[in-house]
Amino acid sequence: MKTIIEPFRIKSVEPIRMTTREERQRLLEEAHFNMFALHSDDVLIDLLTDSGTGAMSSAQWAAMMRGDESYAGSPSFYRFEAAVKNLAPFKHVIPTHQGRAAEDILFSIFGGPGRNIPSNTHFDTTRGNIESSGAMGHDLVIAEGNDPASLHPFKGNMDLARLEAYLQEHRDSVPCVMLTITNNAGGGQPVSLENIRGVSALAKRHNKPFFIDGCRFAENAWFIKQREPGQQDRSILEIVRDCFTCADGMTMSAKKDAFGNIGGWLALNDDELAEQARTHLIRTEGFPTYGGLAGRDLDALAQGLSEIVDENYLHYRIRTNEYIIERLDALGVPVVKPAGGHAVFVDARKWLEHIPPLEYPGQALAVALYELGGIRGCEIGTVMFGAHPDGSEAPAAMDLVRLAIPRRTYTQSHADYIIEVFEELVDIKDSLKGFRISRQPKLMRHFTCSFERL
Ligand code: F0G
Repeated sequence: MKTIIEPFRIKSVEPIRMTTREERQRLLEEAHFNMFALHSDDVLIDLLTDSGTGAMSSAQWAAMMRGDESYAGSPSFYRFEAAVKNLAPFKHVIPTHQGRAAEDILFSIFGGPGRNIPSNTHFDTTRGNIESSGAMGHDLVIAEGNDPASLHPFKGNMDLARLEAYLQEHRDSVPCVMLTITNNAGGGQPVSLENIRGVSALAKRHNKPFFIDGCRFAENAWFIKQREPGQQDRSILEIVRDCFTCADGMTMSAKKDAFGNIGGWLALNDDELAEQARTHLIRTEGFPTYGGLAGRDLDALAQGLSEIVDENYLHYRIRTNEYIIERLDALGVPVVKPAGGHAVFVDARKWLEHIPPLEYPGQALAVALYELGGIRGCEIGTVMFGAHPDGSEAPAAMDLVRLAIPRRTYTQSHADYIIEVFEELVDIKDSLKGFRISRQPKLMRHFTCSFERL
């Protein structure tokens, strides 16, 4: 059949509170045009993030009732541990309350002044944890990964020649090699199995432990199955295991490809590192059989991990993204191509070329999407990256708007509605105005700054 249906029925619904354009104009003013300041029940379609915003299955809700809240040795932990090891066969599995807590633990060990840590592209929190330890993070994604128009099938790949040169140059100051699958910061673009194996071989040759940031591992495996020669007849489970078997450990946000509303883990093979990690965990997160989570959360994740590798789900998931991107492309809206796993990225700088980067075209587009259609997306551009510690400001490399799609949450008609809002925008986009920032904190200004319309 041509129509790819949502492979689920809906048993429980959350009503969307409808708002009018006039109401949204008022709400925007009250929020000083910052999307993070909006109340989520004033949003019709919330595409701020795909993290923790997915719908749990009936089996996950049922699993929560099995949750055992014992402080130590809960059966919920052992079910969770077995589910992780089934996909990622690492010796030690250490639960955390979310991904960044796993990163904090990892870089409390591997970080420190003078150290250098390469990745394809570090996600913000990964970079934050590396840099706050005094170390430096470097992004070595292939050149195509920085070109929104390139149709390379694996734009998340690490540039192996650059990695080799990096390892030669920095030698002993490199404590480990990281790789993010899919590459969120680069548009949710996948990394090929061949590239994962290449990074693994290089790291081994230089005697460096290799860690995967596996947040969207199942989406990445789906792309490998679709796009990589020789992988078509293999199961997602086999591909996922192949990816993780290449690594010495992983960090994970279970709020993505584990269908959790909260959760994460650090997994690794080395006994001594695991002991250090667990000692840190007890101090900051909790005892190693719950790590900042309730027993019921661990059971929900164990069940979620068995559902995420379902091919019907992944087919529908990735196709939804491709569908929106194809339609926007046909409307002449510049989007990052090919479709990544979890989000649509619109090139606002290119589309709203009358708004200069320092008047924040991404913010102008995000505001227009909310005002016109009640859709909440997120600027990823000069607002997020343009402010420097010395107080100066410069345009970011790109001005994008990310529309991240929560898992199993919205339907085909929501996708069509999003496209329709863009159709309306095509006619009025040239009249959109830029913004200026009227108040901002010293760090991470995009979360809390105030804007004024120019
Ligand atoms: N790594 C990647 C690739 C991520 O996308 C995220 C979170 C994290 C690590 C951190 O995990 O949120 O559980 O602490 N990304 C979210 C997003 C926030 O909206 O892209 P966390």
